[in-house]
Amino acid sequence: MSAVIGCSVPDTTSIADYETSLDVEQLMHYVLEPAADIVWDSAGTIATLEGVEDLAPTTDEGWFRVQHAAAVVSESGNLLLMPGRAEDDDWREISLGLVSTGKALMSAAEQQNADAIFDLGGQLYNVCVACHQRYWVENDQ
Ligand code: HEC
Repeated sequence: MSAVIGCSVPDTTSIADYETSLDVEQLMHYVLEPAADIVWDSAGTIATLEGVEDLAPTTDEGWFRVQHAAAVVSESGNLLLMPGRAEDDDWREISLGLVSTGKALMSAAEQQNADAIFDLGGQLYNVCVACHQRYWVENDQ
């Protein structure tokens, strides 16, 4: 039996820094959009047959869900900045907007502030549109 004492520095030179096999379309479809939808579905009102329904969460669990979604939105900005996905400086700036808007949404959810979620939700939408108008070629928005 041999004992390993002390610590050796592993050779990381052969380990890839990241692995971006999901393309931007998949990142949008599976990661960013579902999270953004949770945010957008958590503020404002909708008219139903029974009257006007407030969409804001009513439980701590509901607010945690918004907080988690906001964290995914924020980190998605970093995922878009990874080499292989990032296009140029404008892309970079817009992606950083996703990071900061997501962070602001996280604090608003932590404070259970539905008005702030609503306003930041609008800001988030503008970030999506800003990038799609420039980089989503087949997009006709
Ligand atoms: C930094 C750029 C960028 C930002 C920010 C961005 N997108 Fe996208 N998005 C793209 C590009 C590029 C495509 C086109 C991908 C393709 O078809 O190859 C796309 C496509 C999409 C699609 C279509 C994916 C599919 O399944 O065909 C959805 C949905 C989408 N984006 C949602 C969003 C939402 C929601 C936001 C904001 C919360 C957002 N995007 C923000 C760049 C961005």
